[in-house]
Amino acid sequence: MIELKNVCYSYDDKVVLEDISLRIEEKERVVLLGVNGCGKTTLLKVLNGLIFPQKGEFYFEGIKIDRAFFKNEWNRRTFRNTSVMLFQSPDVMLFNPTVFDEIAFGLRQIKKDESKIKKKVEDIMGIFGLSKYRDSPPFELSGGEKQKLALASILAVEPKVLLLDEPMANLDPKSQGEIIDILYELNITTIISTHNLSMAPELGERTILLSGDHRIIYDGDTIELLNNEELLIRANLVHQHKHRHKAFYHSHYHKH
Ligand SMILES: Nc1ncnc2c1ncn2[C@@H]1O[C@H](COP(=O)(O)OP(=O)(O)O)[C@@H](O)[C@H]1O
Ligand SMILES: [Mg+2]
Repeated sequence: MIELKNVCYSYDDKVVLEDISLRIEEKERVVLLGVNGCGKTTLLKVLNGLIFPQKGEFYFEGIKIDRAFFKNEWNRRTFRNTSVMLFQSPDVMLFNPTVFDEIAFGLRQIKKDESKIKKKVEDIMGIFGLSKYRDSPPFELSGGEKQKLALASILAVEPKVLLLDEPMANLDPKSQGEIIDILYELNITTIISTHNLSMAPELGERTILLSGDHRIIYDGDTIELLNNEELLIRANLVHQHKHRHKAFYHSHYHKH
């Protein structure tokens, strides 16, 4: 469904994605793991067609996604409703006067009739526990509720691909649990970035690991990766303490 071939991306002269190749099949749940600055957000933006690689190619369902593809209005609109991205900060995504309007926004763009929209928005508010905020302005919600609202809004248009940029980073454990449950129920292709190793197994069975030098250094089973200490050290996801007076090492996950 998704294919990147030898993708490179630089901001000015700074390389942030180096020779990235991957394939993701429909309905896969993939974790994109790596330390801050390794290129996760940039990679998700490439997959969302927000930026275009200077080298290499991006194919979506066999179609090459590049600037020329987006020049066509129909292509652009279809792709935007098919592959959606949840940004790390929900604030940048919320701009409607009420929670109801926020969730209805995407549906109104695709011109569904208002009675169907109402039904759909009410269903979604129920799933996300947002019904009580129906007429509240989004900025009054807590961080966790905003994140849920942003997710509810992009899921309303029934995308085929969900790109989530560190969705857990700013949430308390209860909200994290709720979002994980919601994601678990979804039967669509999801790619979720995180810098938090201990979160990875909850987010997906397959993990793509980016190194600090912006390359893929692992692509496979999440649990197997957790047992591969050498790789985790290389990716700076665990660190090793060498005690001067004791002849042992230990390592532990970064917890943030
Ligand atoms: N718009 C930008 N202009 C210049 N440098 C950027 C920009 N966005 C990100 N970077 C840099 O690119 C590198 C990768 O960033 P990013 O993809 O955000 O990594 P991650 O999401 O893994 O933390 C970082 O060093 C970051 O500072
Ligand atoms: Mg990021």
